[in-house]
Amino acid sequence: MTGIALGIERLEAGYEPGLPIVRGASLQVADGEIVAILGPNGAGKSTLVKAVAGLVPVSGGRVRLGDDDITGVPAHRLVHRGLAFVPQTENVFARLSVAENLELAAALVKAERDERLGPVYAMFPDLERQRSLPAGRLSGGQRQMLAVARALIARPRVLMLDEPSAGLSPKLVAQVFDKLAEVRAGGVALVLVEQNVKAALALADRAAVLVEGRERLVARAAELAHDARIADLYLGRVEASAGVP
Ligand SMILES: Nc1ncnc2c1ncn2[C@@H]1O[C@H](COP(=O)(O)OP(=O)(O)O)[C@@H](O)[C@H]1O
Ligand SMILES: [Mg+2]
Repeated sequence: MTGIALGIERLEAGYEPGLPIVRGASLQVADGEIVAILGPNGAGKSTLVKAVAGLVPVSGGRVRLGDDDITGVPAHRLVHRGLAFVPQTENVFARLSVAENLELAAALVKAERDERLGPVYAMFPDLERQRSLPAGRLSGGQRQMLAVARALIARPRVLMLDEPSAGLSPKLVAQVFDKLAEVRAGGVALVLVEQNVKAALALADRAAVLVEGRERLVARAAELAHDARIADLYLGRVEASAGVP
């Protein structure tokens, strides 16, 4: 199953009819690829991933998961189709234990509990050690790990994360990103919205810079790390032309 995992084509989405926030964004993500979505505050990065995840109404364009058209499919169904999303906040149930958070994720996909939890605990031994602890008492880094672990219970083809580094120290960002590299090594495609440009470009294969709801520059991450156009786009200085996807 190697090919285009996620295809976003001229997507339009927003919170109110006639007021699109995402305005014709296009992006393709290959199986096992990591693509970072960068861009200034308010560019529509969160709205884009939420629209793909079925949490914000889509008013135009298409989203495909492999050959499957998932445009406008609500979030609770997408988990069965192979798409998982880790929102920026409230991505775990704070009052439930670590184990309960994972068990609930397994129940939602009607999977056999132990068969799903085993591999996830093997990947996140710190979570297994803390499995009786309420999620709200985990450290920031461990809570983010739990949110990722919850998403992996569904065995997604594509995992989207909104700012997984938010609020974490550089050391914890490195730990979470190492884990994301491991997730990708398992064949999962990752879409990563990030403010932490440096860390995101170090992890990602490619990156897209979103400005005013459209991708304005898409390039290999290693090249973008040295591309002055990134700063220009963040600062709204130039009409940079879209790069080659
Ligand atoms: N729940 C919402 N209802 C209405 N407008 C929203 C909502 N969330 C975000 N917006 C608006 O959408 C625009 C893009 O926001 P967002 O997608 O959060 O950008 P980013 O993640 O790139 O910072 C902003 O102008 C913001 O005010
Ligand atoms: Mg955001």
